[in-house]
Amino acid sequence: MNIGIDKIGFFAPHLYVETKDLAVKRGVEPEKFTIGIGQEKMAVAPTSQDAVTLAANAALSILTEEDKQAIDYVIFATESGVDHSKAASTYIHNLLGLPSYTRAVEMKQACYSATAGLQAARGHIALNPDSKVLVLASDISRYGLNTAGEITQGAGAVAFVVAKEPKILSIEPTSVYKTEEAMDFWRPLYSETAFVQGKFSVDQYINFFLDLLERYNEKTNRSLKDFDALLFHLPYTKMGLKALRKSVEAAELEDQERLLNGFDISKYYNAIVGNIYTGSLYLSLVSLLENSQTLEAGDRIGLFSYGSGSVGEFFTGVLVPGYEQYLNTDHHTAMLKNRTALTVEEYEQIFEEKLPVGEKDYTVDTTKDPAPFVFTGVTEHMRQYKRQA
Ligand code: HMG
Repeated sequence: MNIGIDKIGFFAPHLYVETKDLAVKRGVEPEKFTIGIGQEKMAVAPTSQDAVTLAANAALSILTEEDKQAIDYVIFATESGVDHSKAASTYIHNLLGLPSYTRAVEMKQACYSATAGLQAARGHIALNPDSKVLVLASDISRYGLNTAGEITQGAGAVAFVVAKEPKILSIEPTSVYKTEEAMDFWRPLYSETAFVQGKFSVDQYINFFLDLLERYNEKTNRSLKDFDALLFHLPYTKMGLKALRKSVEAAELEDQERLLNGFDISKYYNAIVGNIYTGSLYLSLVSLLENSQTLEAGDRIGLFSYGSGSVGEFFTGVLVPGYEQYLNTDHHTAMLKNRTALTVEEYEQIFEEKLPVGEKDYTVDTTKDPAPFVFTGVTEHMRQYKRQA
């Protein structure tokens, strides 16, 4: 039985800032951000969006009533959780109107956990072939104003359905994974922004990728020739490019060209959305599928998932005949085109907006947010959500 990604979609909030404007304000050359880091636009979440609403908005764009009835497992991957105990998946279960007899959990391991979700979903489908699993990867990336990590922020979510005989990408059984405790990036419970040892995190990421690629090739007897494209967790697009360049240094020219060309297409959405942590690898997959003119059914795609702390995994998928018919390209293109550009001052103001913490109820202004699902405030310590469109 083939198991894999049956449907996939993403959501980005309607606000963004141009990275060249941010560069000017921060006193650095715009090319450092657009070429050196490889980011053009950075999505900004208004206070009416959180990890729950971003995910619900992503899922809404792909699910039919038939999918909803078949889903009996919701896995929510995030490092922007809204509660220490209650899983964000329970809110999603309610907002999307999923069946009662559904398992719903939240998973955490920095940017890696959506891959843990995908693998758990594969196991679930192997045991329950007629069910479907909804995997959500949703985050708001925050390092802080005027920090080195600021240019690698973003916000958004990817939603995908895992099922038997998938319509888009069949996940192959072999994968290789690795854990190594490291303090490259973390966010203590008391902090709204991440702590990072930037250069160390870059080295850690590259070492994980090279090690896992080698292990995968040893285990499967494959080489770079066997991949039609290689995809990466993309905290910023130059990160994946650095890792890819290292891995193809000694490869034949045609392999280098094929993989570098594929990478160029796979980074397109990431470059205009920013780091969405758990969803970044899967956003890159959507970017490749929706924008490539050369991919074909039967092509093998390698995927490198990395989460600081650190856990990594390398696995592969094979494109299913007719996969193009199940993409949501027009919807995504329109969503990205209709966004509103913020000035750097407006972005800073939103970034510094603090929602009350403590005893008092509050409401959030949702009138300027065109998203279907919004966060409306807190009543008696309970988060409130609504569908407004
Ligand atoms: P930095 O010190 O500001 O940047 O931090 P830099 O000085 O290293 O410059 C970056 C690049 O721009 C360099 O190129 C420069 O040469 C180039 P590279 O050596 O990388 O090829 N540059 C220019 N290029 C063209 N024109 C110019 C110009 N000037 C300079 N004029 C850093 C960069 C990424 C470290 C920082 O932004 C940071 O700390 N980001 C956050 C950490 C991060 O994203 N790490 C990635 C690996 S860890 C990971 O992926 C996990 C994560 O997603 C979290 C999770 O798992 O949850 C982060």
